[in-house]
Amino acid sequence: MQIGFFDSGVGGITVLYDTLKMLPNENYIYYADTSNVPYGPKPKDEVKKYIFNAIEFIIEQGVKAIVIACNTATSVAIEELRAKYSIPIIGMEPAVKPAVEKNRNTNRRVLVTATALTLKEEKLQNLITKLDNDHIVDLLPLPGLVQFAERFEFNEEIVLPYLEEQLLKYDLNNYETIVLGCTHFSFYKDIFRKILPADTDIIDGNIGTVKHLKRILEKMDAINEGDGNIVFYNSGLKVENKEKLANYGELFKRLDIINKCD
Ligand code: SIN
Repeated sequence: MQIGFFDSGVGGITVLYDTLKMLPNENYIYYADTSNVPYGPKPKDEVKKYIFNAIEFIIEQGVKAIVIACNTATSVAIEELRAKYSIPIIGMEPAVKPAVEKNRNTNRRVLVTATALTLKEEKLQNLITKLDNDHIVDLLPLPGLVQFAERFEFNEEIVLPYLEEQLLKYDLNNYETIVLGCTHFSFYKDIFRKILPADTDIIDGNIGTVKHLKRILEKMDAINEGDGNIVFYNSGLKVENKEKLANYGELFKRLDIINKCD
């Protein structure tokens, strides 16, 4: 059986990319809720409705596990999804824990970037309250990056000025770590790198999520059944149009470039 991936849009491709490296012999479906993206600026109840519709659809296709490859969707719905469905549902968590632990003794700060909804949700707020005893965490919403990614806009001349405007509000030399708390943001690691001091780390939660998925599949004795085939759905419609499939291909190429520079 295949593994279901869900995101509001294309951000989850960054997680699927890492998953394909660790679990190449699986089959996947990737569901992007392209009719309703972005989730970040929308009210929680509306976003929850979209998520439940999408997960219902993914389960109908027959999957052995689902990855919610979207921080916003994880923040607003993961507990209720797990309560409703019996198959394993793996979510995203902004990598606040490793960032805070690393900085405990350095006197430097951590900047957590995500969507506005993720940043104000209880899930992240509770995590920060639990971990950030020294008050070293700052929060920054970056909604523009979601919009750029959904438009397949990776041109540095366009993205760099936006990121500079957002990041240069901070004295970046004070920051040891930038946490990418939205899967869309990982498409722009190379552009973050151009702005940040060379010794500032950029981390996302992707590998943690993939490892979690792998552990669960091993425990279920349900690993290695396919050949890395991916079927894409845009809000419930199977993507068969060559141009749209090519766009997804471009995203993987973009990630190849970023990983080479990393
Ligand atoms: C968004 O739809 O606003 C982005 C969702 C996310 O990956 O957090």
